[in-house]
Amino acid sequence: FNIVKASYVATAVNAGQYPESELTEIAFIGRSNVGKSSLINSLCRRHGLARTSGTPGKTQTINFFSLTGKLPDESRLDFMLVDLPGYGYAKRAQTARATWSNFIEEYWLKSTRLKLVCQLIDVRHPPMESDINVYQWLVEHGLPVQVVATKGDKIPKSRIQQHAQAISTGLNMPVLAPGGRVITYSTVTGAGRDELLDVIRIILLK
Ligand code: GTP
Ligand code: MG
Repeated sequence: FNIVKASYVATAVNAGQYPESELTEIAFIGRSNVGKSSLINSLCRRHGLARTSGTPGKTQTINFFSLTGKLPDESRLDFMLVDLPGYGYAKRAQTARATWSNFIEEYWLKSTRLKLVCQLIDVRHPPMESDINVYQWLVEHGLPVQVVATKGDKIPKSRIQQHAQAISTGLNMPVLAPGGRVITYSTVTGAGRDELLDVIRIILLK
């Protein structure tokens, strides 16, 4: 499964601005600066499609990108990736609701085409209270979550497994459930890209 086309579609801060589309949506959420926009660019293999920055708080709106994936039998699948603003900018502990603006909660509650939320967590650190609260909120609201550990190139390969396990334990993830495995990703080496594309393919074909 690979991406053969990717383009920017729309920016929204309320439901009235969501693109008119029937496409399945896959959203990306995580703390500010964790690498959401970079991961979207890496999946699409398009630098600068989603705006990235070394300074937290770059993405402030909901951004929709339409993608076309090609299966081994040459058939095509169209879908949408949704880039969201980061949470947890403030250092203090935060409840899920306090971490995001009303317009992001509106997206979770109103988007009928949302089929998967990729929650990104920096591989170097165990989940913070805001990550744990957001994960629980998404699960309680019936949203399928795939946890992705980002910046995999920042720790030695020999420690990846141990760090992924700490994330899974910290979130109290149900290990046997779908999406129960943490995918470690690096936009620098491309590690984890095939694995995440495979999860996306399975969601799209469901
Ligand atoms: P906000 O929009 O502010 O919430 O941030 P974001 O989560 O979209 O993060 P963004 O993609 O803008 O990346 C933040 C910084 O992390 C940038 O400097 C990226 O270059 C860097 N980064 C992202 N992914 C990786 C990775 O896999 N490896 C390394 N080494 N750096 C990464
Ligand atoms: Mg961003």
